[in-house]
Amino acid sequence: MTELHPSALAAIPSPCFVLEETCLRQNLAIFERVQQAAPVQILLALKAFALFHSFPLIRQTLPGASASSVWEAQLAAEEFGGELHVYSPAYRDEDVPQILNLASHLTFNSIGQWERFRPMLDHSPNRPSIGLRINPEYSPVQTTLYNPCQPGSRLGVRSEQLGDRLPPGVEGFLCHNLCESDSKALEKTLSQIEALFGQFLPQMRWLNLGGGHLMTREGYDLDHLIAILNAFHDRYPHISLILEPGSAIVWQTGFLLSTVQDIIPTPDLTHVLLDVSFTAHMPDCLEMPYQPVIRGGHPVQTGEYPYRMGGSSCLAGDFMGDYAFPQPLAIGDRLIFEDMMHYTMVKTTMFNGVTHPAIGTLKQTGEFELWRQFSYDDYRTRMG
Ligand SMILES: Cc1ncc(COP(=O)(O)O)c(C=O)c1O
Repeated sequence: MTELHPSALAAIPSPCFVLEETCLRQNLAIFERVQQAAPVQILLALKAFALFHSFPLIRQTLPGASASSVWEAQLAAEEFGGELHVYSPAYRDEDVPQILNLASHLTFNSIGQWERFRPMLDHSPNRPSIGLRINPEYSPVQTTLYNPCQPGSRLGVRSEQLGDRLPPGVEGFLCHNLCESDSKALEKTLSQIEALFGQFLPQMRWLNLGGGHLMTREGYDLDHLIAILNAFHDRYPHISLILEPGSAIVWQTGFLLSTVQDIIPTPDLTHVLLDVSFTAHMPDCLEMPYQPVIRGGHPVQTGEYPYRMGGSSCLAGDFMGDYAFPQPLAIGDRLIFEDMMHYTMVKTTMFNGVTHPAIGTLKQTGEFELWRQFSYDDYRTRMG
């Protein structure tokens, strides 16, 4: 979190997503350190964060990006450059020719999809390196919605489906089974991969260990991460290691600014009505679920002023809290929801026609720069 000068705060329209450049630079220094100390390439997963105005800065440290669709691949190629790993649970015939032109690495979710698109690859001038997503049958993720290894998962090939033979042409594996996880979970993942898919590792050229490595969270054991990556490399020196985190890249690097529009006291609690919506602008809060931090707010304590934060849509469950503040809130007060860069702008909707937050950055100098504002036309043009 960076100190917000009152003049910078006044310059920010409400609502607005604000990327804090200083915080992003701090995260990038961590990736720099890991890439220096271990034989690994760290890519930005666009599914978590696609704010391309920041790509030139991120690109100074990260050698490429990962995309999960043809549109993400196009944006990554246009604005990021470098290596481009593409993986989608199911490719469409009409998208594959363009993806083949953009991708450096192309991963299939099933043997069937690889066999179906293989002839297209034979006729393509650009030949990405082909990978298969594998299911390591281990995930530390407790929330089913986010667990790629849940029973009956559709994501990735299980070892018994592969049998003893790797489909011809496959040179790499993608394994994504973590979410906001630590290095111990990655260590366990690597041993699962060796136990279930070890017979194929001598033939592999690369291993992409997906996302979910929360290297930028305080307390993450970077030395342990570096040690296990180096140890794997010692065992399999011919395999290039790749990580493609999303959340970790922009963890704690920006906020969503909102303004109090109304205050409604009831006998049980007091509602604050905001110009932001949890379902439309911060959907993970309801899906995960988790309660985001509000700058200056606390869990409810005696002697303070408790409020429930109400979103701007009419969905009955579009609320969060409770939060307590040392002073009573008033209409027009500005509230800052922390850590709102990952899985926000890429997932927002205009449900109810609610105003979409503007997007901008708080530069290292402390000045605010506006990157994008949304209008009625943006809402209308999505409908036809
Ligand atoms: C295949 C794949 N790679 C990378 C990521 C990024 O994960 P995270 O943002 O948790 O680091 C995801 C997230 O769902 C994913 O499915």
